[in-house]
Amino acid sequence: MIGENYIHFYDIDSTNNYLKNNWRNLPSETVVRASVQNSGYGRKGNHWSSELGGLWYSVLFKPKSRPLNPWHYVRVFSLAIYDTLAKYSINAKIKWPNDLLVNDKKICGIVGESIITGKVPNAIIVGIGINVNNDIPYHLKNYAVNLKSLIDKEVSVEKIMNEINHKAYNSYYLRYLKEKSVSVITKKWLKVLNIKINDEVTLINFNEKKENVFIEKITPDYLEVIDIDGNIKKIYAGEISVRKSGGK
Ligand code: BTN
Repeated sequence: MIGENYIHFYDIDSTNNYLKNNWRNLPSETVVRASVQNSGYGRKGNHWSSELGGLWYSVLFKPKSRPLNPWHYVRVFSLAIYDTLAKYSINAKIKWPNDLLVNDKKICGIVGESIITGKVPNAIIVGIGINVNNDIPYHLKNYAVNLKSLIDKEVSVEKIMNEINHKAYNSYYLRYLKEKSVSVITKKWLKVLNIKINDEVTLINFNEKKENVFIEKITPDYLEVIDIDGNIKKIYAGEISVRKSGGK
């Protein structure tokens, strides 16, 4: 069960780093949570602000068989978090590929990493950051939101984490991953995604260069887009940020 082996730190550099350094000695589905992270990071290595009051945790998977792609594991959590927020009457959207937004502001970011020593991943680490009771830094107020302000009260971060893990395990991981029905997860993910086929989106690369394109196809692993000159390209998560044109 996810979280059957549970480790909590008051503060640590990063729960993802902890699992990267210790995965060999830990069972699959171990959960590591920290109240504060001193060097939390997100996709593309971006700094992740991890103050007291937020939910910062990582989950270790040691897959014995397929699926081996970390995106499938990340997606299990995006959907479980989507469902958990819905229980609190919050209508979130999944921002491609996996973050959660409420009214266009980020409430949750998820990063997936693989540890590969041979041909296939030995371990997959899913790192989850949710703004729960933590105050949003002033410079991020236009881009991020916390659960506390949406429901007008504080909630225990452990309670939220347990609800998410329970949902992730029972509704998605066991039913779909273990039975290899990854397509069912993908279908649900497509339904709650913030972008659809034919939407115009802005791609932003590492140098902050922007380009407006239209979405042709959304697959479990990449987006296929067409630019104004009619060129078709594949966009993989992690390479480039995708924003709805005119949105965040
Ligand atoms: C993103 O939006 O880029 C993903 C952010 C993921 C942050 C979480 S917090 C717990 C875990 N430990 C980390 O250092 N990062 C992830």
